[in-house]
Amino acid sequence: MADASTLESLRAAALAAMEHAYAPYSHFRVGAALLTPDGEIVAGCNVENAAYPSGMCAERVAMGAAIVRGLRHFTHVVVATEAGTPTPPCGMCRQVLQELAPGCRVISVTRGGAEAEWPLADLLPYPFDTSSLRDE
Ligand code: THU
Repeated sequence: MADASTLESLRAAALAAMEHAYAPYSHFRVGAALLTPDGEIVAGCNVENAAYPSGMCAERVAMGAAIVRGLRHFTHVVVATEAGTPTPPCGMCRQVLQELAPGCRVISVTRGGAEAEWPLADLLPYPFDTSSLRDE
């Protein structure tokens, strides 16, 4: 279980990453920060593109940044936005979190200080995963 100051650092990392979001099309800036069991934090932001489907969500940018650092296990992810109410990750990001952070807790914060939290299992109750490939 992450302590309060670690979670506060995770919130701060997600909010700081949001400031770097490249979102000239949606103007919906998102930051994300992943926490490893060892307390390492890796952040990402959304990166949009003139070819709209080429854009990437903050959570998947953070996941890629973590993988390239050799990190493979995550206990928490914080998503930060400027929305009025906390927003959960999109469906594609839920699926990507399921791959390497299946038991993680998803915390969503707004710049205004609102917060919500869900277990990933509640957001993606019937995941397609490696066991699906083996038809177990
Ligand atoms: N977005 C994220 O970065 N994460 C999510 O979980 C939801 C959506 C981004 C994608 C796009 O750049 C913008 O928010 C609007 O959908």
